Amino acid sequence: TLFSMEIYSQTEPNYDENKVPALSLPDIFISQKGKLIQTKEDWEGIRRPEIFRLFESEVYGTIPKDFDEISFSLANETGNPYPELASLEEVNITVNRNGKTHAMRLNLFLPKSGKGPFPVILLINYLPKYKDGKLNEEGFWPVKELIERGFATASFHAETVAPDLTESYQKGIISTLYPEQIGKPDGLKAFGAWGWGAMRAMDYFEQHPQIDSKKSVLVGHSRTGKTALWTSANDPRWAITYANESGCGGAALSRRKYGETVEAINRRFPYWFADNFRKYNDHEEELPLDQHMLPGLIAPRAVYYSSAREDRWADPKGEYLGLSLGSRVYSEIYGKKAEFQTEFEQLTGPVHLESVGYHIREGKHDLIWEDWRIFLEFVKENL
Ligand code: GCU
Repeated sequence: TLFSMEIYSQTEPNYDENKVPALSLPDIFISQKGKLIQTKEDWEGIRRPEIFRLFESEVYGTIPKDFDEISFSLANETGNPYPELASLEEVNITVNRNGKTHAMRLNLFLPKSGKGPFPVILLINYLPKYKDGKLNEEGFWPVKELIERGFATASFHAETVAPDLTESYQKGIISTLYPEQIGKPDGLKAFGAWGWGAMRAMDYFEQHPQIDSKKSVLVGHSRTGKTALWTSANDPRWAITYANESGCGGAALSRRKYGETVEAINRRFPYWFADNFRKYNDHEEELPLDQHMLPGLIAPRAVYYSSAREDRWADPKGEYLGLSLGSRVYSEIYGKKAEFQTEFEQLTGPVHLESVGYHIREGKHDLIWEDWRIFLEFVKENL
């Protein structure tokens, strides 16, 4: 599959640390007018809104927040794989806007033992083989383990909101509910649509008597890890946001150009990001931001990244740098104990700080039980 990635870049991906450009990153704490930002007031009043708008317009595109009506109804179609442990709610979420309707499906497992309301973990799924309520043994969505640990857990498939294809991504909420977004250089694209789906899941959690929506965790892997980060930047209702191996356009610094580049991702997935993002194909140095500014949009709420050693395409070191530099918002603005002390090359285990955490494991690009297990230790400390 390495070959299939490489044909999408005009140039070979770089995996040589010696060829990574010397980094000169935009300063998180200098406003566009040149003001040094040191207080919570200036961060929340000036700098955070500036950075948010830059990501919205130059990287991800808008997530529209308005609609006319939302309603929930329960279906009973799949069959519960864990009837002893959990009850399964198959929820049809129906949203109306300007006389048009879109319905999406959410699957929610609630523990049968223990007393609610339960903390909830939402996974944005995109893998066809794990569609909807169907589970897998490999741990991508470890429902049984999560239920046994006292969590409610839910998932929706990204394609129930927007298909994951260049030809058809608009055939979901984009053409139905938000057609005026089409063609705007900073308009709604697939990541924004998937994030919108996560927000509608949260709408369901908020009105559910058995869910403690204040204790909510948003999880995404790879393309949906990128989505989870942008979603949480838009929606402060998520207490913890976890992006596993989210790589280019997610955790990793674009200016490193290690593994997947802005050009490679925009060529292969032109429907994921705002059209404006293409301006930076092979011109990463002209970006008015970099991905180290993304965690700050989630602060002071908790954020967690993880990498896999062999997942060079996602640039593990770039992911770690993005988080460790971004964590300055947590420590310097919000006074958290969130300073990273260790160089990437010196890491020997997970780094779990106050509201910010990271781990890297051996092996390939995937979300596996080992990732969940280590992440859940962080959840225990931070939820
Ligand atoms: C591709 C893509 C990545 C993405 C990954 C995934 O490899 O280039 O950006 O993260 O798919 O979603 O698994």
